[in-house]
Amino acid sequence: MVAISFLFLVCFFSFHLHAVAQPRNSTIRLGSSLTPTTTGKSAWLSPSGLYGFGFYPQGNGYGVGVFLAGVPQRTVVWTANRDAPPVPRTASLVLTTDGRLILQSPPRRDVYIVTDASQKIAAASMLDTGNFVVFNSDEDIIWQSFQYPTTSILQGQHLSAGMELFSSVSETDQPTGIFRLKMQHDGNLVQYPVDTPDTAPYSYWSSFTDGKGDNVSLNLDNDGHLYMLNSTGFNIKDLNTGGYDDTNRTIYLMKIDSDGIFRLYSYRLDRNGNRSVIWSSTSDKCAPKGLCGLNSYCVDVDREANCICLPGFAPVIEGNFTAGCERNFSSDSCKSDDGTIQYTIQAAENTVWEDNGYSEVTSTTREECDTACYEDCNCEAAMFNDGKCTKQRLPLRYGRRDLSNSNIALIKVGIYSSINEPRKHADEPKDGNGKVHTDILIIGLSLIGFAIMVLVISGALILCSRVFRYKRFSTDSNIRLCEIVAPISFSFAEIVAMTDNFQEEIGKGSFGTVFKGTVMLNGLTKVVAVKRLDNISNQGEREFQNEMRIIGRTHHRNLVRLLGYCHDGANRLLIYEYMINGSLSDVLFTPERRPCWIDRVEIARDVARGLLYLHEECETQIIHCDIKSQNILMDENGEAKISDFGLAKLLKPDQTKTFTGIRGTRGYVAPEWHRKLPVTVKADVYSFGIVLLEIICCRRSVNWSLKDEEAVLEEWVYDRYQAGEVGKIVGEDEEVDIKQLERMVIVGLWCILDEPTLRPSMKKVLLMLEGTVEIPIPPCPTSFFSSI
Ligand SMILES: *[C@@H]1O[C@H](CO)[C@@H](O)[C@H](O)[C@H]1NC(C)=O
Ligand SMILES: *[C@@H]1O[C@H](CO)[C@@H](O)[C@H](O)[C@H]1NC(C)=O
Ligand SMILES: *[C@@H]1O[C@H](CO)[C@@H](O)[C@H](O)[C@H]1NC(C)=O
Ligand SMILES: *[C@@H]1O[C@H](CO)[C@@H](O)[C@H](O)[C@H]1NC(C)=O
Ligand SMILES: *[C@@H]1O[C@H](CO)[C@@H](O)[C@H](O)[C@H]1NC(C)=O
Ligand SMILES: *[C@@H]1O[C@H](CO)[C@@H](O)[C@H](O)[C@H]1NC(C)=O
Ligand SMILES: *[C@@H]1O[C@H](CO)[C@@H](O)[C@H](O)[C@H]1NC(C)=O
Repeated sequence: MVAISFLFLVCFFSFHLHAVAQPRNSTIRLGSSLTPTTTGKSAWLSPSGLYGFGFYPQGNGYGVGVFLAGVPQRTVVWTANRDAPPVPRTASLVLTTDGRLILQSPPRRDVYIVTDASQKIAAASMLDTGNFVVFNSDEDIIWQSFQYPTTSILQGQHLSAGMELFSSVSETDQPTGIFRLKMQHDGNLVQYPVDTPDTAPYSYWSSFTDGKGDNVSLNLDNDGHLYMLNSTGFNIKDLNTGGYDDTNRTIYLMKIDSDGIFRLYSYRLDRNGNRSVIWSSTSDKCAPKGLCGLNSYCVDVDREANCICLPGFAPVIEGNFTAGCERNFSSDSCKSDDGTIQYTIQAAENTVWEDNGYSEVTSTTREECDTACYEDCNCEAAMFNDGKCTKQRLPLRYGRRDLSNSNIALIKVGIYSSINEPRKHADEPKDGNGKVHTDILIIGLSLIGFAIMVLVISGALILCSRVFRYKRFSTDSNIRLCEIVAPISFSFAEIVAMTDNFQEEIGKGSFGTVFKGTVMLNGLTKVVAVKRLDNISNQGEREFQNEMRIIGRTHHRNLVRLLGYCHDGANRLLIYEYMINGSLSDVLFTPERRPCWIDRVEIARDVARGLLYLHEECETQIIHCDIKSQNILMDENGEAKISDFGLAKLLKPDQTKTFTGIRGTRGYVAPEWHRKLPVTVKADVYSFGIVLLEIICCRRSVNWSLKDEEAVLEEWVYDRYQAGEVGKIVGEDEEVDIKQLERMVIVGLWCILDEPTLRPSMKKVLLMLEGTVEIPIPPCPTSFFSSI
């Protein structure tokens, strides 16, 4: 989730970046910190925003590492403490003032990220090369992530002698998987399964450069050239020829994948991060040893690896290849005369295995080999190849089908039998064998299906078109202001000074006029928005203060923060943090500023989160009563924040008057307002539904300059939804995920149902927007527009 919202943010920045583009000083100072979610930021980005160091989603929590942040398909390239359990969202990563980089996640012990720095850290930096470096006070690099590769090497990074890359559990799961790639001291670059000795019988790929001396390294250049250098700097082996695009439009990444094959990937930054494999160590998916667990063998079906159990064996864990297979009977005793278990010998042909036979007979026939194993109580399998019979004990390892190899694995298979049948040699084991095949094939196919699903979902992320321009994250001074401060009471004279006698008017809302001002808070000069309330009821000091206390206690990242207030004579003013990017309506309805789809989805979720907090999570439930896109402000990171909450109570009792500005249309106002029915949180849900539709379509809820049937947004959207033409409500030139679009539209339609009780709660809305729960088809509102 964080990854995704992060992406949304990153891509959101792009649309107004030219205004603020400037080289970012990527120095991370002591005292900086990161958290996975909610408050603060989750990553320190490199100056261009291409790489980030920080939290990435891992399992049901977060891991820490360096990732390619500048492409939609966020790829983790380095991980710290890779096999440690994921940390919860409450964790934080701190560059402490005494010069340590630690991961704090109480009650667990603090974990050092930079483990072997002998000196104190003075600063750190995420470089545009993907290297995360830390400096001492002399500005020397004392530690860098490039020295500790995990799965990947990047341009300019080396894999030096003695170092190893380890695959991950899966593409999305970073802990150590089951394969490794080692740059050996003998000059050879070799792939092995994990937990095996560095010897030839275990290797499944090698550069064949042994004997080229110590200190040979694997290198990756800017043009995608992957090659090996010896200690005197001579190129001793090209793995590929290189010569690919070497501009900064393309970046390269070499990675040992979870399937054991190592590949060179290119990411086209000018094509939305389009990733392709431009070289791989092998095209044989079955080459990596250990891909299929014990007692199973790998079969390449349409360039996908499938694992098949030996005859008479069944998977230990259904669907988990690496767990291998076990006998479908207990072989405690091999005595075949007790009348319960009989044996037969079944075969797996054209397969190769690790050879660990205990007895070898040459110049024999297959039948003799069968019999030899059958009659030997210790023999559980035999390999027959070219007149040679090798008796083996289980388990059999590293099996794979190789049609060019005539080796046959002969397996002793037990069959239950109540009568003493004569011993039989089953040379036609096809039934049982065939069934296992089918089972495995089904598992295989469903896995492939799942993989495709994952691909489709990740494909949906590659929607944002402008990815490679960034805005800087909030600076430290902004972080300080996030500290909890109760709203401060100001005198009117102070307000006059603050706003330079109400010089700069920045807006007019239903509650009053808004002015820009500056104020010193906690020793920092802060730009603020000062709202002068016009229509407020004659409340006593106590009620007003009470209301201010409630609002002041309402802290959420999707709510505009109240910094202070003034209650001086007849003057009632509120001081809010200033939102540099104006209101959501400014952003949505100004074509040049229009956020891309992915950002809009995130904005919708931001608003939903803010509203959910008001309705269900803060101390006193707050019904906003005036949710509309003008009341939703955009901060410097493009995050949406709800403003004007809690003000409804301060207004004159005749609240409906507030909404006369949109008379004649339904606008944002729930029908119950017109019907003088009790107003509940569901009125906000209604207004949210309208805002949601505006966010989806980037147009106002009512626009009479459009054709009649399009003028009222909710009617038009509903018609298009009914007609099965949801795609038409967004611009033709816009790339959207149509499934997600439909989902959002349906959520919107649920929210704007006439009957308040039928509308979902904000919690439900958020779950639906996040795709966590199924969304039913909205009820057919025959009286959909009857209440206008
Ligand atoms: C970045 O900021 C640090 C500390 O604020 C300063 O020492 C360094 O010179 C700055 N670097 C650049 C390139 O501005
Ligand atoms: C390999 O490099 C290490 C450290 O850089 C050095 O100590 C060693 O002498 C080198 N060995 C050879 C054979 O060059
Ligand atoms: C590196 O390779 C070059 C060319 O093959 C060779 O002349 C040189 O001796 C090698 N260096 C070492 C340390 O083996
Ligand atoms: C790399 O990017 C920078 C900034 O976007 C640009 O000025 C420069 O020309 C680019 N270099 C190459 C080789 O494309
Ligand atoms: C990515 O690039 C490949 C070829 O390099 C191309 O076939 C494919 O269509 C591209 N995909 C996208 C989404 O641009
Ligand atoms: C084990 O599987 C084989 C087929 O692979 C079957 O013929 C045999 O009856 C099974 N034995 C038991 C004990 O289930
Ligand atoms: C598959 O089995 C192996 C070995 O038993 C285990 O380590 C691994 O976590 C399992 N993988 C999955 C996806 O369950």
